[in-house]
Amino acid sequence: MCGIVGYIGHREAYPVLIKGLQRLEYRGYDSAGIALYDGSEINLSKTKGKVADLKSKAEGEISVQGSLGIGHTRWATHGVPNDVNSHPHYSNSGDLVIIHNGIIENYESLKKALIKRGYTFHSDTDTEVLVNLIEEVQKTENVKLGKAVQIALNQVVGAYAIVVFNKKKPDELVVAKLGSPLAIGIGEEEFFIASDASPFIEFTSNAIYLDDEEMAIVRLGKEVKLRKIKDDAIIYPKVQELQMNIEEIEKGGYDHFMLKEIYEQPKAIKDTYRGRFLANEGIIKMAGMDDYLEKFTQAERIIVVACGTSWHAGLVGEYIFEDLARVPVEVEYASEFRYRNPIINEKDVVIAISQSGETADTLAAIKLAKEKGAFVFGICNVVGSSIARATHAGAYTHAGPEIGVASTKAFTTQITVLALLALKIGESKGNISKVELHQYLSELEAIPTKVEKALEANEHVKYIAGEYKDASNCLYLGRGFNFPVALEGALKLKEISYIHAEGYPAAEMKHGPIALIDEQMPVVVIATRKGHYEKVVSNIQEIKSRKGKIIAVVMEGDKQVKDIADHVLEIPETVECLTPLLTTIPLQLLSYHIAVMRDCNVDQPRNLAKSVTVE
Ligand code: F6R
Repeated sequence: MCGIVGYIGHREAYPVLIKGLQRLEYRGYDSAGIALYDGSEINLSKTKGKVADLKSKAEGEISVQGSLGIGHTRWATHGVPNDVNSHPHYSNSGDLVIIHNGIIENYESLKKALIKRGYTFHSDTDTEVLVNLIEEVQKTENVKLGKAVQIALNQVVGAYAIVVFNKKKPDELVVAKLGSPLAIGIGEEEFFIASDASPFIEFTSNAIYLDDEEMAIVRLGKEVKLRKIKDDAIIYPKVQELQMNIEEIEKGGYDHFMLKEIYEQPKAIKDTYRGRFLANEGIIKMAGMDDYLEKFTQAERIIVVACGTSWHAGLVGEYIFEDLARVPVEVEYASEFRYRNPIINEKDVVIAISQSGETADTLAAIKLAKEKGAFVFGICNVVGSSIARATHAGAYTHAGPEIGVASTKAFTTQITVLALLALKIGESKGNISKVELHQYLSELEAIPTKVEKALEANEHVKYIAGEYKDASNCLYLGRGFNFPVALEGALKLKEISYIHAEGYPAAEMKHGPIALIDEQMPVVVIATRKGHYEKVVSNIQEIKSRKGKIIAVVMEGDKQVKDIADHVLEIPETVECLTPLLTTIPLQLLSYHIAVMRDCNVDQPRNLAKSVTVE
């Protein structure tokens, strides 16, 4: 959580930092702040609210000149989101200024020790403790800023990506990373620092991604120097060429990133499977998996660890794996798994799913599984992310940057990778024949066109959204492969429209939730023809006789449900195990339109952040 950005070079830092913060706002938007060095002083402005609020405030409050500066957009951890707790933070002398993404867990004991030494604190944040600790080290040890940062960080327990500078030495930025991402963009006589490459993509395509426990001194006119924080070992930086392009991180004519990302799904799914199979020949080739195929075919169990939407994709994966690969699967919330004493061993394969590749709980679950000897396979979207690096092997979902906080194309591309894995294992174990594999792959190949077709229902979905935008509650029901889609549909609605929504397996309704049904209650039911269709039809009848309003997602040509439901949304026909890739589309659109009609901030829903780097 939190986005950090820094600049040192020859151009005006302010516009670079503001634009960079706007691109990083998906990481947190409780408050924002900026500190610029104008050649003699640091000018600092910060405020509760969004980067747009910061911009108005800063331009009226401070000189926004200078070619050295840092900026921050916050998702509050320690201290409520207010002006004082916003970053950047000064040290007591006013010489040092810092921005921080992460949590210093032992900040209270460090703070007490600093107070005893005469330090005063203005905010409730752990970050202000860190900047004063650095100052104290610099004073007592009489060392340069880089060394002071290193010594201070060795006293810290927690996670961080930090950028700090000293106004008395305005030719360098000191950066460090543990558990939160940090990239350094290398330009001509200029450097950019950011949580991801989006703030500097138009200035340079060369970047260094710091690994955990690394720090760097970024000095004008010098090469970037990297060191290990613990033992001071020198590391030779690997400069990577960035693949991202500017169009991918802009709205491209859409009102919101979420809508753009919903519409990008045909391409995202295609990009995810491109080059990974030959449908006609029934061949799947996945570079990240081929070398480890035996691990999967010999696995006694597959355990999926993930959070949120990625967990829902994992649940779809459970149904697909059990159906096609005939291997038992358990799907675990990473946050629960990491604090149990889970029974796992070398015969288990753990699949960690994460769009951002930075989710703290998923990372911790991976660490635990590795300690217990399991083989860990990652499914991530962000290339080079912490989870991608922490796993033994993996496959990327080539969805492109997902910026809307509500996950959409990540979900469908994760399912695409899971389906490919299940098919490959199923065929290798002899559970599915070459002919069947060919059929499944042909169906998968046709999915992008079918998603396009499902998207054509947009205007109809918008009309339905208008009918139910004022609902206070909503139920989502599905069975089999589409039970997780019901959960995901409910999550999408609640997180962006703030309408209370629950997903249930359709048959569970009788065991409690049916009590909620009356004429005020919209119920979204997924009723695909092959997925226990008759049973779902009975469930729909039960809702109808209690006057619930039914929005049904059905397959093209359906007649039976059409006669009973208040509204139907059709998706094209496909094999049952791939229907989640289609049934989820109208549900994404429904929550999107309802949220827009309720005047909610679709891309940045309250209290949320895209990348959850705290547990
Ligand atoms: C919901 C959503 C979250 C994420 C969850 C995991 O729309 O986006 O529930 O799915 O925070 O994030 P990743 O996939 O980045 O690990």
